[in-house]
Amino acid sequence: MGDHVETPKKCRTLLYSKKQILSTMAIESATPDLKKIVEGAADFLPLLGTDYIELYVGNAKQSAHYYKTAFGFQSLAYAGLETGVKDRTSYVLEQDKIRLVLTTPLTQDNPINDHLRKHGDGVKVIALWVDDARKAYEETTKRGAESYFEPMVEKDADGEVVKSGIKLYGDTVHIFVERKNYKGTFLPGFKAWKSTYNPTSTGIKYVDHMVANVDWNQMNKWVKFYEEVMGFANVLSFDDKDISTEYSALMSKVMSNGNGRIKFPINEPAKGKKKSQVEEYLDFYNGEGVQHIAVATDDIVKTVRDLMARGVEFLKVPSSYYEGLLDRVGPIDEDLEPLAELGILIDRDDEGYLLQLFTKPVEDRPTMFFEIIQRKGAKSFGKGNFKALFEAIEREQESRGTL
Ligand code: FE2
Repeated sequence: MGDHVETPKKCRTLLYSKKQILSTMAIESATPDLKKIVEGAADFLPLLGTDYIELYVGNAKQSAHYYKTAFGFQSLAYAGLETGVKDRTSYVLEQDKIRLVLTTPLTQDNPINDHLRKHGDGVKVIALWVDDARKAYEETTKRGAESYFEPMVEKDADGEVVKSGIKLYGDTVHIFVERKNYKGTFLPGFKAWKSTYNPTSTGIKYVDHMVANVDWNQMNKWVKFYEEVMGFANVLSFDDKDISTEYSALMSKVMSNGNGRIKFPINEPAKGKKKSQVEEYLDFYNGEGVQHIAVATDDIVKTVRDLMARGVEFLKVPSSYYEGLLDRVGPIDEDLEPLAELGILIDRDDEGYLLQLFTKPVEDRPTMFFEIIQRKGAKSFGKGNFKALFEAIEREQESRGTL
């Protein structure tokens, strides 16, 4: 279905006809906007999925241990001094269809240090898997994207990969990865990483969506960027009436590509009595960046129980959230008791319901966090939970003195 993201190695079809895209998206029920984009515009930027997410971190070795131990990622590939890379170390982790790259600079003059000093740990690269990285670069830069780097070919004994890159909000970038002529573990320059420490998976399967926090009055600029430069459509919008508490507010628009595999909601702060979570993020990240990575599971109770047992910390809603919940969201397949015990949130839209839960920030600065989501037909993002959730975040902000 629309949320399913395939990894390169499991890909069989490289290009999708409009008919395929329409059926993948169940587009008949999608908003007219998206239907128009998919049917009307030539699909100038076909995206096959999320290729990898790269985080710049202070200590990649220890971060890799955390993501393996706490989140159940598996060792995949490595680059560093032992592979002839002199200025950085990168660990590549995978869990089902998700690949995380954790990179730390090794030398004082490496510009990655500037990124770390300014932002702390955070997402640098959202890599997108394409059939033609040269064309992706050409189509996006001619529509106004700023170049990060021009198309380049990397080779090793397993074949070649073509990459190109464009700049996004803040210091974040998209890298287009064309790997149809590559058979290696990850990318040229990386060697397979065999570890004797292999914690089991927590049932996390693929990236459902990734959310950006942008500055005051910048949301529409980036909506326009994704529409015009990337061929995405704005499929959902929330204003400060939808997302506000007594103290703070934000606005959000959800951008989706034509086949529905890639979804990027974009948040902007809105005026409230006190500082919103987006403002807090912007202060501590020193600018715009990725706020959260939503990862999907088929069994959220099992996944969340497992993550909690491994030390992942989650936001807590008050138990009153569960009073009358089934009257609000209607019948669900799951027992309510374990959901309430774990603090899992439920919301419904026209097409079904979803279960979701948010971690606390996974680094010391109150910046990036994860969302665990299980979709039971719903294609939305949990609007009905926003208020309870933001009040939970505000309690955290209060304890940090940043509300
Ligand atoms: Fe989300």
